[in-house]
Amino acid sequence: MASKTPVVDVHTHMYPPEYIKILESRDAIPIARSFPGVPDPRIVLLSTEMAPLKEAEARAARGDLPPTSALPGRPLTSHYTSVAQKIHFMDTHDIDISVLSLANPWLDFVDKDQAGSLAASVNAGFSAMCKEHPGRFFFFATLPVTAPTGVILQTIADVAKLPYCRGVILGTGGLGQGLDDLAMEPILAALAEAELLIFLHPHYGLPGSVWGSRGDTTGEYGHVLPLALGFPMETTIAVTRLFLAGVFDRLPKLRMLLAHSGGTLPFLAGRIDSCVRHDAHLWKAAKSRRSIWDVLHEQVYLDAVVYSDVGLQAAISATKGAKTGGLDRLMFGTDHPFFPPLETDEQGEWESVSMNADAVSTALGSGSAEAAAVMGGNAVRVLRLYEEASDKA
Ligand code: URA
Ligand code: ZN
Repeated sequence: MASKTPVVDVHTHMYPPEYIKILESRDAIPIARSFPGVPDPRIVLLSTEMAPLKEAEARAARGDLPPTSALPGRPLTSHYTSVAQKIHFMDTHDIDISVLSLANPWLDFVDKDQAGSLAASVNAGFSAMCKEHPGRFFFFATLPVTAPTGVILQTIADVAKLPYCRGVILGTGGLGQGLDDLAMEPILAALAEAELLIFLHPHYGLPGSVWGSRGDTTGEYGHVLPLALGFPMETTIAVTRLFLAGVFDRLPKLRMLLAHSGGTLPFLAGRIDSCVRHDAHLWKAAKSRRSIWDVLHEQVYLDAVVYSDVGLQAAISATKGAKTGGLDRLMFGTDHPFFPPLETDEQGEWESVSMNADAVSTALGSGSAEAAAVMGGNAVRVLRLYEEASDKA
């Protein structure tokens, strides 16, 4: 009997205890804050949440705390920190293997002198988790992006030797000036040479001004604008900048897994291509380079975290091998522990997971070979999850 293709979650996060301690000690975003009488601390990550946080703190000081559902940020439950909880979540959703990553904003805000040692300790923590649960976990490592370049390069060399490490998670900020910053290129080159996949994930969204005052400062629209629209645009812009800078051509071994099905890249690639072809200034150089479609077919993988078969169809069409016709670049993810259910037990099934799994079945047919490839087969192959996790040191 043929063995079942495993289900693999390539987009699943955790915060280790030392990271939470840092968040608890901070006065600026990202912050973790406890409020009297509220069972879980709040984790506040987005810049739109700063004003509502100040307001909630002022109200708490007056003994007039808003209802828990109106507090800024989100409850920092054990889903963010506990391995046992992660395994329970995986078992509940029939996920065989998770490729763990630190959640945003990673080490982007950490003092440059502490970033290297914190990265080493976070990466050692993820390594230990994988080792304790053989076959269940792999991980994307964290880079100390605020540290000097030499420290970042050393971290890349170190994590490349860790047996369960399959790449790195990276924000769109790079070293602070975005990924097309020339100072990023040696780092991207080192990742490409080490064959470490970059899991590119958004955090910063778009400037608050695009949301208007009701969207940016009052908390009235919750997280909808920054998460549903800001995050995907951020990813789209970051990859387009890398493409326009010619980085994919200069680094043909560079491989990226784009969060949230590439933001809006699959939908907008045609428009990007057309704008390049109609820009007299750019076209001369761009004509000798590969197109955005080539990059999507050769250097980019997408997760399937898009919550609808409509968006997933765009991701499928954009990545389907131009030559092979194979659906080999799309991989299931959950974004756990974000988006827990509001009205059902958090220990049970999460609607955010079933929305993504159902989108795969609807788009590709329940039980089809292509659905199985997206749900896990592609991740096993691309991330070498059946390869012996022997120490490469
Ligand atoms: N998903 C994430 O990974 N991070 C967020 O901040 C929100 C959703
Ligand atoms: Zn995520």
